[in-house]
Amino acid sequence: VGATVLLTGLPSAGKSTIADGVAACLRAERRPAEVLDGDELRRRIAPDLGFGAADRRENLRRIGYVAALLARHGVTVLMPVIAPYAASRAELRASHTSLGVPFVEVHVATPLEVCRRRDVKGLYRRQRAGRMRGLTGVDDVYEVPIDPELRVPAHEQTIEESVAMVRRLLSDLPGRRR
Ligand SMILES: Nc1ncnc2c1ncn2[C@@H]1O[C@H](COP(=O)(O)OP(=O)(O)OP(=O)(O)O)[C@@H](O)[C@H]1O
Ligand SMILES: [Mg+2]
Repeated sequence: VGATVLLTGLPSAGKSTIADGVAACLRAERRPAEVLDGDELRRRIAPDLGFGAADRRENLRRIGYVAALLARHGVTVLMPVIAPYAASRAELRASHTSLGVPFVEVHVATPLEVCRRRDVKGLYRRQRAGRMRGLTGVDDVYEVPIDPELRVPAHEQTIEESVAMVRRLLSDLPGRRR
């Protein structure tokens, strides 16, 4: 079987970067890997959804549904999605468990101040300038994962080191080789 890896964290934490790195790593080993990036998936399968609590939950549900289908057939699915709500993440885990698909939660734990400095998409700047509202970690909630399988300090290490941590976690999953 494959597995679903949720990479949760603040905007600019490093979720997409790490997910792409892990996927590249797996593909180099000839293992099937897919990245279901929150941004792209929103555009593709959830253009009707916004950023309120109910819509964020529904967004995670949809992406999670696709992830479980793929993972059930041997694909390692990397899911870089902010996923700010603990209950919603628990729901995602439960839906995988009920299908017998391995699920791991990775908290990309870059602190807000570092994310703000990185500001890859200019969201923090826009929020500060009063041109957007509901930015996770600033004026919208982010419930820090209490008991994730892995916490990645992506502010204290290189991208390669962060990728390697996730890669190692996957190797240690029961039922997988190496
Ligand atoms: N150890 C690290 N792991 C991941 N990214 C890092 C690390 N060190 C520095 N970075 C940099 O941090 C930035 C993270 O941006 P990225 O788009 O991956 O964030 P994100 O969590 O996907 O944000 P968003 O929620 O807005 O999509 C990149 O510019 C990346 O090069
Ligand atoms: Mg991203």
